[in-house]
This record gives sequence, structure tokens and C-alpha cells, in this order.
Amino acid sequence: MSDTSFAPRIFSGIQPSGGLTLGNYLGALKRFVQAQDAGTDTIYCMVDLHAITVWQDPAKLRHATRELAAGFIAAGIDPARSILFNQSQVSAHAELAWIFNCVARMGWLKRMTQFKDKAGKNAENASVGLFAYPALMAADILAYHATHVPVGEDQKQHLELTRDIAAKFNHDFGVEFFPIVEPVIEGAGTRVMSLRDGTKKMSKSDPSDMSRINLTDDADTIAQKLRKARTDPEPLPDSLDGLADRPEARNLVNIYAALADMTPDAVVAQYAGQGFGTFKPALADLAVDKLAPINAEMTRLMQDVTEIDRILGEGAARANAIAQPILDQCYDIVGLVRARA
Ligand code: AMP
Ligand code: TRP
Repeated sequence: MSDTSFAPRIFSGIQPSGGLTLGNYLGALKRFVQAQDAGTDTIYCMVDLHAITVWQDPAKLRHATRELAAGFIAAGIDPARSILFNQSQVSAHAELAWIFNCVARMGWLKRMTQFKDKAGKNAENASVGLFAYPALMAADILAYHATHVPVGEDQKQHLELTRDIAAKFNHDFGVEFFPIVEPVIEGAGTRVMSLRDGTKKMSKSDPSDMSRINLTDDADTIAQKLRKARTDPEPLPDSLDGLADRPEARNLVNIYAALADMTPDAVVAQYAGQGFGTFKPALADLAVDKLAPINAEMTRLMQDVTEIDRILGEGAARANAIAQPILDQCYDIVGLVRARA
């Protein structure tokens, strides 16, 4: 059920840990731009405090944060219309996360599949931050009373937890203070799969660079990776049902659809009966056409990191102006004495 007592506001975040992939672009960035262009109140955050839940080399983290900012802007985020900043510059995130650490239950966090995946077999050696990560994510969103959160499919469980935290806080303190957020997981791009294995998510952490398209890849590399993507020898069927057991083929159709702003049904209708010898070059052309300008703009923006830092600082000041009063009210509800004027 959507919460109608809060003004619509979109919040989303991406970790500055390594480069951006086509999955991030189609599952997140492209949709962030659409929300901004639709005139919604939009706040986008580079979640550096989330990134450090696993080891990050400081110099690489700094670079990745700036490159991610360049990616946001190159993809179409306008820092004048959206608020764009990095998380650690607005202290309300970490402060509200502490409150939520005291609201969320151990049992809830133990069920998070992303923690289990990331911690792997050696969970005893994972950072406490990695375990508590979803409470920080809830704080990111709720510090702005955001109502809608566009993400890829993999974040659904974290958003359910965000709803549980908001509901428990409201219930425990007898208030209607935090909105119950709506996940926005729509379109063909919310689950972009590896180009080597159609059952695995495309990820920046996959050891094989051929499994993903990076937003920093040049046109030749993009085309080559798509031409070499794993597929099967069958031609494309005339309906999506025919792709049910063909995950690699389905993934390429989804990628085409998301890049071209078409439905997967329309893509299959257009290419029915054609083999990958035809479809892959068409997909490669489309991908280069859409991604090469973003790549070029990222490179241009990265030549002036001072300007990027200035933009993030300005975004942080605007974000803080929204989050600090909400944090103050939250502390008051909890019973924390605020003696400063
Ligand atoms: P991350 O890079 O893990 O911080 O993810 C940032 C955003 O990109 C989140 O909204 C993810 O759900 C989305 N995302 C990451 N990988 C993919 C993928 N393979 N397909 C679709 N969305 C993705
Ligand atoms: N957990 C998200 C991911 O790994 C990133 C994230 C952090 C986020 N805080 C958020 C996404 C708030 C949406 C809203 O992709």
C-alpha cells in the first residue's frame, strides 16, 4: 500500500566501488534520469559509506566516487534539477542509521540474502558494517522522507526491510513519522544478466571482464563483447514464451528492449525467426549508439575533478537542508535531549 500523506520524492543510491556496468545503467541510472525528467523531486546519492563495508583502497575509492558522479551526469542527471551528492558529506545518514540499528532486529538482518552472498563462507570475518548495511540503506531513504525508490531487482529485499523498519519505528513510538516506501522495479532493465552466464547477474565484481559491459568501455570493446556473448544456435522465436528456457537469449532481448525503450515482446516480434548472426550486430550497433556518448562525456568530465567535487559539495548542502530537520525531529521522538539552539 502506498503512503499518501507524504509528498512524492524519489531517492536512490549507487556504491562507488569499481566502475559502472550496463546493469547499473539500465537498472538504475537510465531510470533515474527518466524520473528526473518527469519532474519528480529526485535525490541521488553515491553511497561511499556503504562501499567501505568491504575493503576499499582510499585512492581508488576517491577516484570511483568522482567517476560515478561523472557517470550520473553523463547519463543525464542534471545537478540543478536533481540533488546529487556523496553520502559521507551528510552526517544524517550515519546518525539515523544508528537509530535504525536499534530498531531493526538481528533476525531480520540475518535473512538478507545479499549479506549471505557477500560474506560468503567466512561470515565470521565479515565487517559488522556489512551486516548492518541494510539499516544504513533505510536511513539513506528515510532521512529524506522519500516515498519511491527505483532500483534493480536485487535490492527488493532491502527495501522490504526499509518498510519494516519504518513501520516498527512508527508503531513503537506511536507516530506516523516515516513513510512506507514503494520500491520501483519496472522495465526490461531491472535484471541485466552476465554475458557469459544468463543465470548470473551482470556485476562489476565478476572476475571475467567479458561478462559485462562497463560504461568506460570504448565502442569496439562494447561491440566485441556483445558479438561474443554466449547464446544458443536457435533463431529468435516469435513470442517471449519461446525464450523461457533460453536465459542468455532472453537477456540479450531484454538488453535490446531496455536500450531501445521497447518492450521485450516488441523486440521478439521484430526479430522473430532471425538468428544471432543478425541480432547480435544490431544489438551491438544500438548499444554503441546509446553508450558511446555517455563514455565520451564521462571522460570529459573526469578532466576536471575540482568541478565534480564542487557539484557534490553543493548537492550535499542541499541534501543536508532536508535531512537535518528530519533527523532532529526523529531524535525528539526517540527522547534524545537536544539542548542546542
Ligand atoms: P550497485 O552497483 O550494486 O551499488 O547497484 C546500484 C544500482 O544498480 C542498484 O539499483 C542495483 O539494483 C542496480 N544494478 C546493479 N547491477 C544490476 C544488474 N545486473 N541489472 C539491473 N540492475 C542492476
Ligand atoms: N544497496 C544498494 C546497492 O547495493 C545501494 C544503496 C544504498 C541504495 N542505499 C540506497 C539504493 C538507498 C537505493 C536507496 O545497490
